[in-house]
Amino acid sequence: MRRKIVAGNWKMNNDLAQTESLISGIRKKLKKTDVEVMIAPPFTNLFAAFEALRQSPIEVVAQNMHYADNGAYTGEISAEMLKSIGISTVILGHSERRAYFGEDDALLAKKVDSALKNQMTIIFCFGEELADRKSENHFKVVENQLKNALFHLPAEAWKNIILAYEPVWAIGTGETASPEQAQEMHYFIRETIAEKYTDKISDYVSILYGGSVKPNNAEEIFSQPDVDGGLIGGASLVAEDFIAIVKAL
Ligand code: G3P
Repeated sequence: MRRKIVAGNWKMNNDLAQTESLISGIRKKLKKTDVEVMIAPPFTNLFAAFEALRQSPIEVVAQNMHYADNGAYTGEISAEMLKSIGISTVILGHSERRAYFGEDDALLAKKVDSALKNQMTIIFCFGEELADRKSENHFKVVENQLKNALFHLPAEAWKNIILAYEPVWAIGTGETASPEQAQEMHYFIRETIAEKYTDKISDYVSILYGGSVKPNNAEEIFSQPDVDGGLIGGASLVAEDFIAIVKAL
């Protein structure tokens, strides 16, 4: 049975007081569910969030990490530092890291290896640009993102991988992929993994959809057979909306 997951990527939002307020709102509204709920606050709020949620089923996730164990990398955070404050899941490859900070597949492969070396779980993000889709190159782009950053891994590493397909043209735009578009790509991703590894692995890996998921569209996207949940941006910053999306899965 694949893990059903809704993760909130807060991006660069919320100071400490706003973090505490949002976490309180989410905790109050979250009812018992078989959905795994995760939140990814900014680095400055990770420990406070972890402490606040220590007795809760909500997992606190990092939005990024460096591939080195330590060293002269001003402003960066290592896997070991995250583990030392109780964080064991990290988002890697988000389109904003790729676009604004030049993170390419080779760098992401190094981050993936470092996270796995530190026994972390990875939410690995990937997805095509609008130009790729318009030129009908989106399947090739997605296949290459997977192959270049993940397909060097041994089969056993995939127990620590959660995939998040996020078409870049749907992120923060209010224009989400249609349920059919999401299902078509998620199925392709699963088939690509099965071809490289085995059906057992492709059937096991959870593939989340991200890109303008809102309370009014979550249910139709999550109803697709190869969609196992969502990676939520804007809507995760409003407790009521985030919980509505959790309930939709
Ligand atoms: O990582 C999830 C994020 O990129 C999606 O953002 O605001 O379109 O839900 P949003």
